[in-house]
Amino acid sequence: MRLQMMTWAEVEASVARDSGILMPIGSTEQHGPTGLIGTDALTAEVIAWRAGELADAVVGPTIPVGMAHHHMAFAGSMTLKPSTLIAVITEYVLSLAHHGYRRFVFVNGHGGNIPTVNAAFYEVYAALYGHGPVEGPELRCRCISWFELPGVQRLTKELFGSKEGAHATASEISVTRAAFPDTVKSAPLEPAQAPISRFFDARDYRRRHPDGRMGSDPSVASAPAGRQVIDTAAAELAAAYRQFGTMG
Ligand code: NI
Repeated sequence: MRLQMMTWAEVEASVARDSGILMPIGSTEQHGPTGLIGTDALTAEVIAWRAGELADAVVGPTIPVGMAHHHMAFAGSMTLKPSTLIAVITEYVLSLAHHGYRRFVFVNGHGGNIPTVNAAFYEVYAALYGHGPVEGPELRCRCISWFELPGVQRLTKELFGSKEGAHATASEISVTRAAFPDTVKSAPLEPAQAPISRFFDARDYRRRHPDGRMGSDPSVASAPAGRQVIDTAAAELAAAYRQFGTMG
């Protein structure tokens, strides 16, 4: 169930049964010549919605813009400073905690968000508990990046081998092709497999990765592969959600 499609009375009844919630978080940033700007937000929400169906869990509104400073040399990319993203996540969680939610599983679609999301969890704990534990129901937060799930990693290795890459990956572009078949883009990919190296900032990123991709060859992306990735990621997430919900 998507929180946005529920009434307040439905939310009130459902939180009394299950105080967990899935929270998709993505990014709005370039994904190479053939990937959608919204890839990281779209993949996180498609996978979270499916996991929500499997686990009978509520899915909160997607946070669509993340920490993507290093992609800002490409048109269409947007970023929040880490401090802004921490504030956004903290206030999303505290708002929902006010209504009784206690287990937050963030479904993340963007590697660049990970340190900031985890920092935000400690802002939440600090806001609730000050500098030490207090009485009352415990609130717990967890961040799961769908592309890091072990079953997904096995599958992408099997499907794409070394063509998967690290940004504008074959798997994430496959997921958007499966979910949004009308948006398939074609453009030359030269070289077929993009370079991959460390970088420092947005300008340096573009210098080292001129078309935006990092290490990937998304010409192998396909809708059927994307459906497999969605199913695998959603099943693993649903299992992780159920387990998280029953932790002591
Ligand atoms: Ni991405």
